[in-house]
Amino acid sequence: MAESMKGLHRTCRCAEVTSEMIGKEVTLMGWVQKARNKGGIVFVDLRDRSGIMQLIFENGKIDEEGFEKAGKLRSEFVIAVTGTVEKRGGAVNTNLVTGELELIADSLRVLAEADVPPFPIEENCKTKDEIRLKYRYLDLRRPDLQRNLMLKSRVAMLTRQFFAKEGFLEIETPMLGKSTPEGARDYLVPSRVHPGSFYGLPQSPQLYKQLLMCSGYDRYIQIARCFRDEDLRADRQPEFTQIDMELSFVDVDDVIDVNERYLAFLFREVLGVEVPLPIQRITWQEAMDRYGSDKPDLRFGMELHDVSEVVKDCGFAVFSGALAAGGSVRGINAKGQGPMPRKKIDKLVDFAKDYGAKGLAYIAIAEDGTRKSSFAKFMTDEEMDALVSAMEGEAGDLLLFAADRNKVVYDVLGALRVELAKQMDLLDKNEYRFVWVTEFPLLEWNEDENRFQAMHHPFTMLMEEDLELLDTDPGKVRAKAYDIVLNGNEIGGGSVRIHQNDIQEKMFEKLGFTKEAAYEQFGFLLNAFKYGVPPHAGLAYGLDRLVMLMAKVDSIRDVIAFPKVKDASCLMTESPSRVSEAQLEELGLEIEEKQTESDR
Ligand code: AMO
Ligand code: AMP
Repeated sequence: MAESMKGLHRTCRCAEVTSEMIGKEVTLMGWVQKARNKGGIVFVDLRDRSGIMQLIFENGKIDEEGFEKAGKLRSEFVIAVTGTVEKRGGAVNTNLVTGELELIADSLRVLAEADVPPFPIEENCKTKDEIRLKYRYLDLRRPDLQRNLMLKSRVAMLTRQFFAKEGFLEIETPMLGKSTPEGARDYLVPSRVHPGSFYGLPQSPQLYKQLLMCSGYDRYIQIARCFRDEDLRADRQPEFTQIDMELSFVDVDDVIDVNERYLAFLFREVLGVEVPLPIQRITWQEAMDRYGSDKPDLRFGMELHDVSEVVKDCGFAVFSGALAAGGSVRGINAKGQGPMPRKKIDKLVDFAKDYGAKGLAYIAIAEDGTRKSSFAKFMTDEEMDALVSAMEGEAGDLLLFAADRNKVVYDVLGALRVELAKQMDLLDKNEYRFVWVTEFPLLEWNEDENRFQAMHHPFTMLMEEDLELLDTDPGKVRAKAYDIVLNGNEIGGGSVRIHQNDIQEKMFEKLGFTKEAAYEQFGFLLNAFKYGVPPHAGLAYGLDRLVMLMAKVDSIRDVIAFPKVKDASCLMTESPSRVSEAQLEELGLEIEEKQTESDR
């Protein structure tokens, strides 16, 4: 039977019991991790979010009724126990903070009994994800998830503390708003009062924070919930959290400066890691050329080599064809991987194809210097020598080449570089390598829609020196946009904003907006800018991604209490769900049932 809390007060948490408390009476409350009944004595491991404390119920030291109750304890029962802290009689458990101590119980209350959980509540659970997520409230009892969420809470607290000291104001912006132009699909909320009209849940507070700059708040921060209806991955959720900021009267260096000091503060406080400042900066072009990625992992080398010049006249049609079509031929040198079995190389070829490659050419150099290659028959010995030497190939190396349009070559080799680093065990989760990627292209060509689109968002300022290019060669214009990258993950991004109406109008024109369409969508911002707008810039971190890396886990699901799965549903609440006819009617909505394959 569940007993009450009447007259009881918890002294501290389990792992907050210290050797200074030996001989003192304490009251602990928590969940039974494990109970072992040894006849005259019952051992219980008591768990709460701080850790575990060993309890001893000994016949005679606790009254008859209490001893009887202790004998019936099972895992996950919730109990309150009062007793005296003592030095452990038995073996010391060096795995526990409280491993040298035990609590000799003199009273016990069972606050709640518990069914047998569908999986054991313990660290490094091997249970299938689906079951863990269905019973997320039990999953969240596990110490590793508890540590992650406590870490996240601490990061949020320190973030507020740091930015408050720097003069930032925390200001809320609406969840029910208008679509923001971040590029993903919006989540829409139907309006009851205005049938047929919808709010958009924010993809980010972008426009509101720019308006706050217009209103003179000069330094804004918000830990903001954002919503994006896009394909989920390990580092993407439909609902996630940004550390979002905006500053007035600043340029790129000011934003970077305060954020570098923030990152150094955070990593020192939370992990005891010193982030060397200034953080390295590389331009987007350099990042693509050297690493094939705009979020390069700098924990290892294996940089791309452009061998286009070397192979431009060679007899291998794949290479010369790609060059003739305006593309390039580039390679990476996987040091010491020359002996890789053919089957494993074939897997790399398939991997490359997943990233859009038509193939992956290779030269494997054995320890004795002999070469095996998928394309040697098309090349002269001299051409092969020149290629190997351009790749700095040595005995034991595996050289891999992609030939295609630049974008494909970058994508393929960028991904392959990381895949090889994984296979070669070059990724140390205890190492933190930050890099700023700057000077992103302002626009990117959207092949499907046959028009330019903003790479960051339409309010991003271009580099002043590229202003003229906007008319002559828009694809070449560089933006005052920057991403902060940590170990190959984009943890944040931002830009200086356009605060000049003439440039903003030109930008919309390049993006294919008519003036009317621009005003219809963003009129409130464009109008606000007419009344005195300060130059401003900002940045937003993905809080979940940042914490994922600090917690050394592989998915942001492990740092979000109630995450969604791949199809954006929640296995625990079974949302999204159907709503009643009455609710639909009130909103003026009608559901058109789509026929699925199986219906036909
Ligand atoms: P951006 O779109 O780059 O910029 O987003 C900022 C950061 O948010 C994180 N992020 C995500 N995290 C989890 N799940 C997602 N679906 C997801 N999408 C993005 C990333 C990313 O770096 N308004 C601008 C910022 C600005 O210009 O100030 C913006 O939202 O870590
Ligand atoms: P093939 O003559 O098509 O058998 O190709 C010879 C080798 O070149 C194979 O190892 C292919 O995987 C590789 N290859 C084909 N297309 C490309 C490409 N676009 N870039 C790099 N290698 C390629």
